Amino acid sequence: MGDGKESVVLFPFMGQGHIIPFLALALHIEQTNSTDCAIYFVNTPLNVRKLKSSLPPNSSIRFLEIPFSSITHGLPPASENADTLPYHLVMRLFQASASLEFKSSFMEAIHNLTIHNHGRPPLCIISDIFLGWTATLAKELGVYHAIFSGAGGFGLACYYSLWFDLPHRKVSTDEFSLPDFEEASIVLHRTQLPANIAEADGEDDWSIFHRENLSAWVDSDWLLFNTVEEFDQIGLSYFRRKFPGAIVRPIGPLVLELKSRDRIGNTTGEVTREAILKWLDSKPSNSVLYVSFGSMNTISASQMMQLGKALEGSGKNFIWVVRPPIGVDINSEFKAEEWLPEGFEERNKASGRGLLVQKWAPQVEILSHRAASAFLSHCGWNSVMESLSQGVPMLGWALAGEQFFNVKFLEEEVGACVEVGRGKQSEVKSEDIERKIKWVMEETEKGKEMRRNAEKVKEIIDKAWKHGDGSSVKSVHDFLTAAKQLIV
Ligand SMILES: *[C@@H]1O[C@H](CO)[C@@H](O)[C@H](O)[C@H]1NC(C)=O
Ligand SMILES: *[C@@H]1O[C@H](CO)[C@@H](O)[C@H](O)[C@H]1NC(C)=O
Ligand SMILES: *[C@@H]1O[C@H](CO)[C@@H](O)[C@H](O)[C@H]1NC(C)=O
Repeated sequence: MGDGKESVVLFPFMGQGHIIPFLALALHIEQTNSTDCAIYFVNTPLNVRKLKSSLPPNSSIRFLEIPFSSITHGLPPASENADTLPYHLVMRLFQASASLEFKSSFMEAIHNLTIHNHGRPPLCIISDIFLGWTATLAKELGVYHAIFSGAGGFGLACYYSLWFDLPHRKVSTDEFSLPDFEEASIVLHRTQLPANIAEADGEDDWSIFHRENLSAWVDSDWLLFNTVEEFDQIGLSYFRRKFPGAIVRPIGPLVLELKSRDRIGNTTGEVTREAILKWLDSKPSNSVLYVSFGSMNTISASQMMQLGKALEGSGKNFIWVVRPPIGVDINSEFKAEEWLPEGFEERNKASGRGLLVQKWAPQVEILSHRAASAFLSHCGWNSVMESLSQGVPMLGWALAGEQFFNVKFLEEEVGACVEVGRGKQSEVKSEDIERKIKWVMEETEKGKEMRRNAEKVKEIIDKAWKHGDGSSVKSVHDFLTAAKQLIV
């Protein structure tokens, strides 16, 4: 500290889906740092500890810890991450993140940093969509500010618009449009709403949090999205209209460099990364379906059974990242004999057709392997970006948050995805999933078209990153330059 460099402060919400794109952004700024800034990553102590061990050893990224007492906020001891909380407690973490105590700790951290830098405040603060109050604070301090969304423009526009408008409360039909998101002519079905939005009436805790905190973005100077302009224009134009005072720019796809993703992932499973890659090497090109529901989600026991039947029935090679079904401790042992069709694991091991991986797999490496053909995914935005930057088409099965709108976008606007399941409760049929796996992976008209569309997106993405001067790379540079100009 105090080495005369300008400092850039990054502050994600406490959840893996938020921390990962912020970490990717921090590493990107570090690598392309033409403005030579010191990078500070802000979070609570337990998250910082995990992050420290996931950084490359030669990284210069520094950490600022915000003290956090989970018990004070009605949370179990040592709970600082949305991913470790049961759903009914997640709201408390949100409330804690907007509490006076938390805000003043952040303010103190910024104050300390300023003192260490001989009275010079940070060059800028880049913070999370759920930490809107940091924009208001930065404005008061005269510090340049950006909101960075790890989510895509389209999905987040649906999410934002739903919270402010609650259009499903105004009609009695199952289907409804989003009049506030006029850039997209989309029709949603009630089953595509995350539980908290479906139940919202404007007076509930979630509505209150989102309406107040999301609207604080108005105090931000820039809104940055982990996406690409040509691919996600509709969603970005929504935010350009809503926030005419802010500069809205895509800076994606920020895909976390492989080794860091390895370190941050749970590598405690039995199948090692080397074994997975060796298995992939033994398979023909474009022959493997990769199945994963992300780092924090799982499906129901009956859905798992149907998916297992579909994978076997399809006759395709597959890697399936398995986690215990809903209702079972997510960290407990996976019981294939109980939750999958009888003899499933043995049969697929013997034939070499399927690989079950517990908890976590090196996703980016799998998707970029020549053997990868399609990705059955919950369509969290990190996964979407990781898949499409490799031109891999998707089978969508949204489970939470804006994932439902991502699937809608990918299926209807992009044409690189087909929906196979919706939510954790719905009934799915193995024949239906099997049929769709074949569509995507075989030489069907639909499959060819989906692969073509995924390839198109890959080209757009490549262009945005090409030679370090594509539109996305330029956006980050422009933002830091603009922040600098404010100071001198
Ligand atoms: C760290 O090492 C890697 C691999 O040698 C290199 O690509 C990267 O630029 C280095 N990062 C820093 C901050 O020096
Ligand atoms: C700020 O600095 C003081 C004095 O060094 C320290 O006690 C305090 O923990 C720091 N606060 C934060 C949030 O970093
Ligand atoms: C954000 O939400 C919390 C919890 O609902 C609330 O206490 C706070 O005042 C809200 N607004 C801002 C700008 O933090």
